[in-house]
Formats: sequence, C-alpha cells, structure tokens
Amino acid sequence: MILLTNETGGPGIEITVNQLKSGAYGIDAMVEGINKVEADPTIRSVGFGGWPNILGEMEFDGAVMDGNTREVGAVGALKHTYHSAQVARAVMQKLNHVMVTGDGADRLAAEIGLPKVKTLLENSGEVWEQKLREVLSEEEFEKFPNIPLAPLNSTITDPEKVRDTTVFLSKDADQGIHAATSTSGWGWKYPGRLGDSPIAGGGYYADSRFGAAACTHTGEMAIRCSTSRSIVMALQMGKTLDDAVKFAVEEVDGLKGGFIAGLVIHAIDVSGNHKVVSYNLDEPGKYWLWKPSMSAPELRESEMV
Ligand code: GLY
Repeated sequence: MILLTNETGGPGIEITVNQLKSGAYGIDAMVEGINKVEADPTIRSVGFGGWPNILGEMEFDGAVMDGNTREVGAVGALKHTYHSAQVARAVMQKLNHVMVTGDGADRLAAEIGLPKVKTLLENSGEVWEQKLREVLSEEEFEKFPNIPLAPLNSTITDPEKVRDTTVFLSKDADQGIHAATSTSGWGWKYPGRLGDSPIAGGGYYADSRFGAAACTHTGEMAIRCSTSRSIVMALQMGKTLDDAVKFAVEEVDGLKGGFIAGLVIHAIDVSGNHKVVSYNLDEPGKYWLWKPSMSAPELRESEMV
C-alpha cells in the first residue's frame, strides 16, 4: 500500500490512511480524505477555502480514476457544492460518461444527495472585490461585469499564486492504483475555464499495472503535454519512475509559447516507489507520503527541477 498527496492533502491524510489500512477501495478512501480538504477554509486552492473566478463565482473541478479498469469520472465548473471528487466518483459509477460540467454537474450532485451550499467564503469574496477595485477604473467597476473580461486574465490572480489542486494517489490493499483530484482552479480565472484537474491524462492518470501520476499548479501546461499519461506510458514502455518523470519534465520544458509557469508532478509506480518534482518554481513543493512501514505519514520536500 502507499498514499501520496500534495501538501494540501494534509487535512485528509489521516482518514485516508486509516481507510486504506482497513482494506477500503482506494478511491473511496481518497474521496473521504478529499472531502475534508474541500471543507477546510484554510486550504486556499481547493473547496470552500478557494478563490472565485473573475465574476466572483466559485467553480470547482475534480476527478477520480480507477487504475484497475481505467474508468474515469470528472466534473468541471461545479458551482453549488465544493465536493467535486465525490461528484466525480458519481460520474464514474452512475453514468456512461467520463466528464460532466456546469449545470449538469450540479444536477448530479443534487441527485446523490449533496445539498446546495454557499460555496464562496466571505473572505474570498472581499479579496475578490478588492482586487477588482485595484485594477479597474471607477467607470469599469460601475459597468462590471459588462466589460471585456479577457484583458483581466493576465492582470489578476490569487494572492498566493498557488494555482493548486489537491491530488491523491494510492495503491490499496487489493493492489489497485488509483488517482483523485479536487480544486477551485486559478483564482480570478475566466468563467468556464477548466484546468488539468478534471482532464484524464493531463492532471492525473492511473493504471494498476504500472503506476499513477498527478499534477498541481499550472494545469494548462499539464494538459498541453498530457503529463500524467506520459509518465504512466513511459513506465509501461519500461522506463524507471525517475526516468519517466524526467521524460515528462523534458516535454514540459520543451513547450514553446503560451502561458508558461510552474508545475509540480507527483508519481508512484507499481513497486511502491514515489517521486515528486517541482518544475520552474522558486521553492520546492511539499508532499505527504504514507507507507505501511511508517509510524505516521511524513511531510517531505519535492525535488527542484
Ligand atoms: N492544477 C490546477 C489548475 O490548474 O486548475
């Protein structure tokens, strides 16, 4: 067994580890943990603590992938509940689809019994308005949102510039290697923007025969390079985990044009190895690791590449 999450996984790691120890299906164990991350207002890039889009509305993305069957469930731009991993699991288990967005995702959330809740944290709403006032003229502010929003895309972002997701990768007691993600995406993003967190192959991928990978930070780059799928495919082609991640980093490094920033890559292989690297960032990302040989989950620092 193994559990690897990024730093924001902290509030959910204990319950996930306990469930894995008791033999739970990895996706159920990770969704339980992610539920806690999503409800924690101190996590500023996921769930209730996240930042809104440019219109001041919360839009949540998330996904699960079962590495035994390679079934996927994903949601995008969910507005009325922040439990996107749970709704993503329902897409995988209840629908013949892999991704549902917008009103349909909120509808499915209601059908599985998730109440419609207030998803914008008061502080997030205040900071959102303050940022708009800083960049807009009085006239533009009066007219908002009936002004072109695209020019604001490069002007405003979240205070922490975290652009983070919570990513969980696990191998459960039945040797199933699975992945789960959840995020509120970039703060002040253009409405309807989907990052990598709901995109199979970009933000996450799992195959119980080989391993799993998931990304945080600038999702656009992970989508452009199919980073998570690249890593698992490189494992399938016989590369070591180190070389598979190196290959994916080289692909990201070769991107020309477009928006380029940081990316953090998390990966595990079927033998229980793990690797976390921070690309093009000022500081290393932190991650949580748990294996049965450990007395408690450990918070570690990623490699800088
Ligand atoms: N990696 C999270 C996002 O880009 O939305």
